[in-house]
Amino acid sequence: MKVVVIGGTGLIGSKLVTKLGEHGHEAVPAAPNTGVNTLTGEGLAEALDGAAVVVDVSNSPSFASYSGARISERTLLPGPDAQLGEITLGTWLAQRQ
Ligand SMILES: NC(=O)c1ccc[n+]([C@@H]2O[C@H](COP(=O)([O-])OP(=O)(O)OC[C@H]3O[C@@H](n4cnc5c(N)ncnc54)[C@H](OP(=O)(O)O)[C@@H]3O)[C@@H](O)[C@H]2O)c1
Repeated sequence: MKVVVIGGTGLIGSKLVTKLGEHGHEAVPAAPNTGVNTLTGEGLAEALDGAAVVVDVSNSPSFASYSGARISERTLLPGPDAQLGEITLGTWLAQRQ
């Protein structure tokens, strides 16, 4: 499974990329130094192509826009009726093994 890790070259993100790889996932580190910038949108579409999961562990300031857009907790949901569940990434990955 392709997992894009925004901030995947940082202290936390690089550890996550390593762990995802150890679990057999295609973990793609996405950060300015790999040509992906979530604030400007540079390289973002290419990085996200085919991704099943996107994790953001970047240190971009939360007050900034995301690829030029203001986002809220429900911005990326598929519709108004989407239900949010609570699960940690580790638990979710373990259930998919
Ligand atoms: N480290 C901790 O102990 C700790 C604890 C609790 C919470 N956190 C939070 O976890 C997050 C990551 O922390 P960290 O210590 O791993 O930070 P970090 O080592 O500074 O790494 C930050 C990552 O974000 C990337 N990044 C910065 N601007 C970006 C942008 N516009 N688009 C895409 N990627 C961008 C950086 O890429 P470049 O290197 O290319 O700039 C880098 O890969 C932060 O929000 C931090 O507040 C950290």
